Amino acid sequence: MTATSTAADHLVRAVNVTKAFGTNEVLKGIDLAVDAKEVVCLLGPSGSGKTTFLRLINQMESLTGGRIWVGGELIGIEDRNGKLHVRKDKDIARQRSRIGMVFQRFNLFPHMTALENVMEAPVKVKRQSKDSVKKEALELLEMVGLAERARYYPSQLSGGQQQRVAIARALAMKPELMLFDEPTSALDPELVGEVLGVMRNLAQEGTTMIVVTHEMGFAREVADRVVFMDQGVVVEEGPPKEVLMNPKEERTKTFLRRVKQQAEAEAAHDEELARILAEAASGE
Ligand SMILES: Nc1ncnc2c1ncn2[C@@H]1O[C@H](COP(=O)(O)OP(=O)(O)OP(=O)(O)O)[C@@H](O)[C@H]1O
Ligand SMILES: [Mg+2]
Repeated sequence: MTATSTAADHLVRAVNVTKAFGTNEVLKGIDLAVDAKEVVCLLGPSGSGKTTFLRLINQMESLTGGRIWVGGELIGIEDRNGKLHVRKDKDIARQRSRIGMVFQRFNLFPHMTALENVMEAPVKVKRQSKDSVKKEALELLEMVGLAERARYYPSQLSGGQQQRVAIARALAMKPELMLFDEPTSALDPELVGEVLGVMRNLAQEGTTMIVVTHEMGFAREVADRVVFMDQGVVVEEGPPKEVLMNPKEERTKTFLRRVKQQAEAEAAHDEELARILAEAASGE
């Protein structure tokens, strides 16, 4: 396969991507292709390089080796008459504006309302008129179920609500690709569902998404493909039914067993807590 054909065939194409921080080789040759409208869930133990990989796609870090194409364009560098050149800052900013990213921590601007947070990038970066941006921002807030909270500040919103504003904010730039890095892992358990619900709707609407998550239910139901990473390599990938229910590789099996045990321990802990609280309430 030539570089040009790979670029045109997929929305994201990573070829032999490596990343080192000093002597620490974090990614050791990642190959991954994501098609338009595909939802790919990225799983793997802590430190396996999931966040680093997303940050490379979004050019928040620079590649040590390999190539990444997004929407048919090489990111960070360009091919001019067969010679590779580093792209200009403005060009990199344009490429980054095609990608929306949602982090574990919501990273909203604390001094802006939900509506202002969503409006910020289209007004400042795309220089669109405030009126049209406002209309679209309100529609996005409605889509994530927060039309009534448009004038609230982040500190007046729950974690789940803040994360839904963060999703609306990323969507405001009309990205071709959405990257999610453990978007629910900082949330109280009862707030996880509302955020996953919004993400599920996005997936159903055909949004191309790469989602780092430990939410196995979401991966099973929503992902077209699951990619399991460990120690900087892709160990196994395939449809969720295969990778999650019938993994081939020993490392995948060990990881899934551990995630399951952890979920069970958390559920038991929640049950115990509920019992203690109920007892305390009845004794009052
Ligand atoms: N900016 C950085 N400078 C130096 N080392 C880094 C940097 N970012 C990440 N690393 C290292 O890269 C490795 C992979 O980190 P990364 O955050 O990508 O893992 P992860 O799979 O996202 O883990 P987690 O599930 O805990 O979020 C870790 O050993 C980490 O210490
Ligand atoms: Mg991470």
